[in-house]
Amino acid sequence: MGQKIPTRQEALDLLHEYNETDSLRKHAYAVEGVMRYIARKKSQDEEKWGVIGLIHDLDYEKFADQHCTKTGEILRDREWPEEYVRAAVSHGWGICSDVTPQTDLEKYLYAIDELTGLVATTALIRPSKSVLDVQVKSVKNKWKDKRFAAGVNRSVIEKGAEMLGVGLDELIEDTIRGMQEVAEAIGLKGNPSQG
Ligand SMILES: [Fe+2]
Ligand SMILES: [Fe+2]
Repeated sequence: MGQKIPTRQEALDLLHEYNETDSLRKHAYAVEGVMRYIARKKSQDEEKWGVIGLIHDLDYEKFADQHCTKTGEILRDREWPEEYVRAAVSHGWGICSDVTPQTDLEKYLYAIDELTGLVATTALIRPSKSVLDVQVKSVKNKWKDKRFAAGVNRSVIEKGAEMLGVGLDELIEDTIRGMQEVAEAIGLKGNPSQG
């Protein structure tokens, strides 16, 4: 029991079953893209990192008030491996779960989740509306502007980077690159010629 490895298709079906909202689906694809990019860069299991990225917010649309907890229940009901369940739930550490990110996978998920929102908003204010020409410094410039992407908790990102022992610049760069790979799917391909 619980030893079957979930495929991307299973993860995608589950995401779509529980999330009809376009923005939530796009957020899932963005986090998946970044997790895949980083896994590849670090010679880790790209499928595993991507699948966990896809379903990390699984319960958010239907059970926002039980975020993380419900995801754990749904995945365990479906006999997902405990490693996947733990990783998904740990992204809400200190917010909606008390599961501390411990592995590199978990720490990256924790660190890049909010950051994808900041990168997306940075892309959307460009004339091109494209993530393809977003620079690290454009994201950094908006770091202290609390009104910009006000929902993005910068301190979570900083804490994640600290846990990883990775500089913010590198984390932002990886997040941009990962999102660029899925630009079309997350609606941020824009029109770079208008940049
Ligand atoms: Fe979440
Ligand atoms: Fe998320």
